[in-house]
Amino acid sequence: MAETAQPVTMDTIVSLCRRRGFVFPSSEIYGGLGSTYDYGHYGVLTKNNIRSLWFRAMVQERDDIVALDSAIILNPRVWEASGHVAVFTDPLVDCRTCKLRFRADQLEQASCGRKPSKRPGETPDCDLTEPRQFNLMFETHVGALQDASSLAYLRPETAQGIFVNFKNVAQLARRKPPFGIAQVGKSFRNEITPGNFLFRVLEFEHMEMEFFVPPADATEWFEYWLERRLAWHRSLGLRDENLRVREHDEAERSHYSSATSDIEYLYPIGWQELEGVANRGDFDLTQHTQQSGTKLEWIDPDGNRYTPHVIEPAVSIERIFVALLCDAYHEEVVGDRERVVLRLHPQVAPVKAAILPLVPRDEGMATRARALYEELRLHHVVEHDEGGQIGRRYRRQDEIGTPWAFTVDEQTLEDETVTVRDRDSLAQERLPIGGVRTWLDDALRRGWSSPQSD
Ligand code: GAP
Repeated sequence: MAETAQPVTMDTIVSLCRRRGFVFPSSEIYGGLGSTYDYGHYGVLTKNNIRSLWFRAMVQERDDIVALDSAIILNPRVWEASGHVAVFTDPLVDCRTCKLRFRADQLEQASCGRKPSKRPGETPDCDLTEPRQFNLMFETHVGALQDASSLAYLRPETAQGIFVNFKNVAQLARRKPPFGIAQVGKSFRNEITPGNFLFRVLEFEHMEMEFFVPPADATEWFEYWLERRLAWHRSLGLRDENLRVREHDEAERSHYSSATSDIEYLYPIGWQELEGVANRGDFDLTQHTQQSGTKLEWIDPDGNRYTPHVIEPAVSIERIFVALLCDAYHEEVVGDRERVVLRLHPQVAPVKAAILPLVPRDEGMATRARALYEELRLHHVVEHDEGGQIGRRYRRQDEIGTPWAFTVDEQTLEDETVTVRDRDSLAQERLPIGGVRTWLDDALRRGWSSPQSD
């Protein structure tokens, strides 16, 4: 596929997120902290939607996957057994001149601290150290003492919490391979590469599913999950031309993986990993069996024992969030006015509908609009907006991706109908006010595809 760039820049997305209260730089009044962000109202709503759509596809709609919520701080032996203490590292170089630190494998994309900035190592003043391996796990201490005996880690993936619970879940959930355990929760990584907004952050919400299968079926299930996950991203409205699959070669694969493919998205920074699908083989269950002394294996009804192999689709809400916003962002001129519109899938959009009294001072309109809002809010996230010109209110809703607006106007007072305005086509039609609730329920159930597709 051709390396065409995303037309929208990351700066545009950052500024929309800030302007409309999706995402703020974290602890900003103290100067912020690189690669950490706080979510405002619309950001929280959007994240909730992504999380529940994932959970629905991965757990609710299936018979073969159950949920888990394990602790963030685990016994540190978990991370020794998993290999994270030894090899969850990035190669880093320091510049003795500008005192900055860079990923040795990403010097091409980095900027040196000197002005005008060049690539690290390019100016005569650059003085780079040899690469050193730097562990990405955040360390902490458990208990009052701060010594080696109290050392613990913030989890860098949720997967290990699943592996160490394999026996609990397999016994109590009455599941046999193939079956999966799904988990959503924060993971933490001391990432050195700063920038690129939410794409690479220090803490992110991981959505991982470990699918335990008979060893002979692992390749088949790997293909199955790769296809399923790609289809899921398409179902959220991500455009086909911005998605592709890339297989890792042996050198690139993680220490536990025997096969990995990335589902990549064409971000403004180029093609990058959106989600990884890995065949972890029996690496994790074998390691934990050896290190803990607890057998993590499956015994089938005729007494055959085996260690299941694991297929793992893993993604963060943050990477999906950025991909969805980039895919949805659109600037256009309507009449003589410019509008910014977020063409988000209605199920992803933070607000499903706006209820707008055309003339808020008019008591008949105000009362009806308020009553409609009170009815709809019991079922969906909707907004009642009576501030400013109607055109400005529409623009505001367009910018946060609200798919529909119901406007109560003069005609409502005569025939109890409202106008429904479609965010994407700008088409308007009239509906009886009493039928709005059912209309909205149906509209949210209908499929949606981006009108921005080629
Ligand atoms: N358990 C396997 C695992 O964690 P990974 O490729 O390191 O594999 C999986 O991460 C997914 O987690 C990535 O595809 C990406 O969606 C997300 N991810 C990883 N590091 C991230 C970070 N620093 N910020 C945001 N998302 C991240």
